[in-house]
Order: sequence, then structure tokens, then C-alpha cells
Amino acid sequence: MPMNRRHFIAAASAMALARPAAAGRYTDLIAAPGQAQLAPPEYDPTPIWGYGGAVPGPEIRVTQGGRVARRLINRLPQDTSVHWHGIRIANAMDGVAGMTQAAVPPGSTFDYGFEVPDAGTYWYHPHNKTWEQMARGLYGALIVEEPEPPQVDADEVLLIDDWLFDADATLFDSFGSLRDWSHGGRIGNWVTVNGDGDWQRGVEQGQRLRLRLVNTANARVFELQLRGFRAWEIALDGQPLSKPREITALTLAPAQRVDLIVDVTAAPGETAHILEPDAQGLLGVAAFPVAGLAREANRDAPPPLTPNPVPPLGDVETARRVPLRMEGGAMGGMAEAMSGGQVMSARDLAQTGKLWAFNGQVDMQDSPLIEAARGETIRIAMTNDTAWPHAMHLHGHHFRRLGPEGPGPLRDTLLVHRSETAEIAFVADNPGDWLLHCHMLEHAASGMMTWIRVS
Ligand code: C2O
Ligand code: CU
Repeated sequence: MPMNRRHFIAAASAMALARPAAAGRYTDLIAAPGQAQLAPPEYDPTPIWGYGGAVPGPEIRVTQGGRVARRLINRLPQDTSVHWHGIRIANAMDGVAGMTQAAVPPGSTFDYGFEVPDAGTYWYHPHNKTWEQMARGLYGALIVEEPEPPQVDADEVLLIDDWLFDADATLFDSFGSLRDWSHGGRIGNWVTVNGDGDWQRGVEQGQRLRLRLVNTANARVFELQLRGFRAWEIALDGQPLSKPREITALTLAPAQRVDLIVDVTAAPGETAHILEPDAQGLLGVAAFPVAGLAREANRDAPPPLTPNPVPPLGDVETARRVPLRMEGGAMGGMAEAMSGGQVMSARDLAQTGKLWAFNGQVDMQDSPLIEAARGETIRIAMTNDTAWPHAMHLHGHHFRRLGPEGPGPLRDTLLVHRSETAEIAFVADNPGDWLLHCHMLEHAASGMMTWIRVS
């Protein structure tokens, strides 16, 4: 039969209809052992675990409202899963092994498919033995682009990690060290950006860049200083600030993200830097050698990003207020806590690798910390009764810290310093069971883990 115009249109639209099915296919995301040149070239590559066998794993980039579809293939010698950190995701796709799904055994697969409601900087990592799997290199960036992204000369993702190396740049095999677990966690002796110990990017004076900083370390709080830039924070943990804030330094706790707009002010021949102070002085984290002059004039502060569709807080004055007391750890003075339905002395708990508690309770209980009705505004009043900072992360939601000036910016991970109290509020609008835990992964593994239920 001859193909006339009408038939052709019918055939073409049939093809168009067929397309979403094809687009619904899953791209492989293979968790596997590999090698990475994390240390300087005079060292052999470090054996790691990574997505695609590399550090970092492949960057996932999608436009706001779009869909991520990945088939996790587990080629590790351990069970694993993938958590999409900071995405307000459907509960079944949250990737929490033993809670929202069964752990994926070696040789098996799991299909993750979900929509991304919010633009911003997110990331993914395992949620099974996370303290070991992330330290070995399993993580990657998940970037959700705004439909109309801000005008910049470049958009760079910097996944900042620290590694605990032996003298030969292999990973120091102290996984499970109770000393680390009871103190500040596994703190490394080598810092990389995107798996590179000497990360550099050439720039020109006057260029405007968007830098997306992500802390993928197990437990290190990065105190970063910016040199050779004029810089504004435009988003925290993916969520835009209502007003960009000019800064020269920033704190990046484990799992946190900061989006910056920076204008290069260093002159040609100089180098702009991101630096971390240490006992000896300042340590280079990332270097931006300046090769030329793009623009002379100072530019205006960047405009704010469009807010994401996060529901506004209800009346916080009348909202339910739930206390969460953090206890335990070295120098914490915790005498005893509940575990598996019985009171145990801190000494006996330590024998089982448990060192920290929330509200006198070690690890997850059978019943949630909070049962929220969908749409309810909840306040959690956190008290850090320990000698250590904690990076508190809530799954499936973003929250605001309540302060004297009212609710602060949206975040999904909040650093609570020792002896500090911090109150957060959020709208429990995402149905399902959601973890609330310390993102210092050794603390989470040794007790600092609870959950909420939204129904
Ligand atoms: Cu980034 Cu429960 O995790
Ligand atoms: Cu902690």
C-alpha cells in the first residue's frame, strides 16, 4: 500500500506514542570493585568500590520534573542498595535496605525509577553498610537542572571526600573500629575532589561559575574558605535560598550540599582556591588557575533561583513538638540505654558495637519516633547531649530550622554542634516510613538511627 500523507502521520504518531515506553528503560548502574588514582602518580592506584567501578560514579543529570531510571547491578562482595539523598522521592524508591526494600545481594539487581520534583544538587550512595561502602568510594552526583538555569560560564560539581589511607595509599582497614565509632567517625588523611587529589580547573578572571559542593565523606565536617572569588550561596541541600548570601567561608557537614555562584576575582597568572584550614595552615582542596581575562567589571549579585514546590510550613506555634535527645559516644557519660526492648549498660552495649542513643534508645525501634498524619506540620526539638557534632538527616522531606528570626532555609541535613539544641519543622507530606539519622555514618551504624511514619 502506498504511504500517503495521512498514513505517514498515523505511523509517525504511533511511533511517538511508543517512545515513552522506550524512555522508561533502565540504564545500568553497576556497583563494582575498581581502581582509582586518588593519590599522586608515584603511588599505585587505590583499590576502591565504585559505581561503574569508578570514583565518583557516573553523574546523573535530569531536568526538574523528569525521571531517573537506573538498574542497580550488584557486583560487590556485599549486599547493597542505592539511596537518592535529598530527593523527595516515592517511599518504595528510597533505597533503605531492610526498610523500604530488601538489600540487593551480590549478583542481583534492583530497578529504581522515580520522578524528581525539585531542581538542585543531590547525590546517591548505598544504604547498606553505608559506613564501609561509602568509605570505599560508592557515591555519585544527581543534578536536577532548573528549566531555566542561571546564566553562568560553567557549572561544576565538586564531590569532596576524605580517604583514610595506609602508607601505600590503600584504604586503611580499620572498618568497624569502635574508637572511630565512639569519636568523630572515620576521618581521612587524604582529600579528593571528584576522585582527584589535585583537582584543578582553568578559569578566566571575571568568569561567573556555579559550583555545586557536595560532602561525600563519612564523617568529616569541611570548613572551607574561598580565595580569589566573590561568592554567593544560592542553595543549600538542593533548595534555593530566597536571597543569595555573599560569603567568604562555609561549613559543609557530611551529606550537605552548597550551591555557589562565584565570580573569579584573581588576576591572570594567579590561582583562585577552595581551602581547608588544618593544624599546619591551609590545605588546598580545589584550585582554579586563572589564564586570561574574560571581563573587567564587577557584576551584580546573582538573582535567587526559583523556589521548588516544597509545601509551606503550617502554624509552627501550634504544631506538635517531639523531643529528640542525642546521647552517648566518647566523653558523653551515657550510663545505659534501651536496646532490643531491654535496658543495657553502656559497657555491655559497647560490646555489641552500640555507642549512641536517641531518647535513651539504641538503633531503630519497632515503632516510629513520630506517626504523622499526611500534611501535618511537625517540630523536632533536638538536644545534643554528646561531646561530638552530629549531621542529622531526614529522608523524604526538607525541613527548616526554627530560630529567633523565624524558620531558616530548607535543608535535608543539619549540623548540630555539641551541647547545642536545634529545633526543626517540616510538613510531613510524603507518605511512607522515613529514616532520621546521623549522617556521620559510624554514628548511624552504632545507634543514631530512628524513623518516622507518614500516613
Ligand atoms: Cu544520605 Cu540515610 O542518607
Ligand atoms: Cu553523629
